[in-house]
Amino acid sequence: METNAPKRRDNKKSLRVKVISLGNAEVGKSCIIKRYCEKRFVPKYLATIGIDYGVTKVQVRDREIKVNIFDMAGHPFFYEVRNEFYKDSQGVLLVYDVGLRESFGALDSWLGEMKQEMGSQANMDSIVFVVCANKVDLTKRRVVDEGEGRLWAESRGFHYFETSAQSGEGINEMFQAFFSSITDMCENGGKRPVSEVSVGFTKEQADTIRRIRNSKDSWDMLGVKPGATREEVNKAYRKLAVLLHPDKCVAPGSEDAFKAVVNARTSLLKNIK
Ligand code: GTP
Ligand code: MG
Repeated sequence: METNAPKRRDNKKSLRVKVISLGNAEVGKSCIIKRYCEKRFVPKYLATIGIDYGVTKVQVRDREIKVNIFDMAGHPFFYEVRNEFYKDSQGVLLVYDVGLRESFGALDSWLGEMKQEMGSQANMDSIVFVVCANKVDLTKRRVVDEGEGRLWAESRGFHYFETSAQSGEGINEMFQAFFSSITDMCENGGKRPVSEVSVGFTKEQADTIRRIRNSKDSWDMLGVKPGATREEVNKAYRKLAVLLHPDKCVAPGSEDAFKAVVNARTSLLKNIK
């Protein structure tokens, strides 16, 4: 039977979201977005002036998502312009250049700037973060390895992807995971789904691996004072071995950290009477 009832619009099927890109100048934020939206790469550096804005439509399962992309300038000079644009974001692309350690180190400051500008709105659990370790095509100049980047990201409940805007590696996979997580979050009442936050390793494990990577010598690595006794070295070793044993610990970099601890203990015990 024909009726004159207006067609029911299924609001569940369309969604509008806002995403932003963050990271130091020249790490490749604009190129990553351009590679995804326009399928091309621009080798010449054209610094973003303040903000670039674009809209794209994507399909996630049965939903059409309208994505508003705010591509931020990384240069400190544009702080006054970009600080307006943090609020109401559902997704953040955090980008660093795997060949520039300071761009990796700067990720904490970018999160800090974002929290500060969002003020009381700063509920980081309602935002999906994806870390892009970019420029992986330039293998010879790489200084931040996958384990280190992945650990930083996953210990915070963030996604981690290795990307190259130049070759396209990782770009589609990264955006698909990004938009699908944002959709999950919106369907989950604005909270990041728990499965993503739980990463299968503890903060203590992540912090210990980071500490081991940055230790200056074998004493420091085991967390004992120079000149410690055999018992002290063995006790410290056992504690770390339990925490980091590859059968027990799935944190990125745990295997290398475990091996380093075994070697540190061996070399210390050789020289202790
Ligand atoms: P700001 O807008 O100043 O914050 O910089 P941005 O992060 O947007 O950097 P942009 O995307 O403009 O890229 C900076 C430079 O890095 C450009 O010369 C790009 O061609 C180059 N670049 C970006 N991504 C890659 C990549 O994956 N591989 C290589 N080899 N070069 C890249
Ligand atoms: Mg840019």
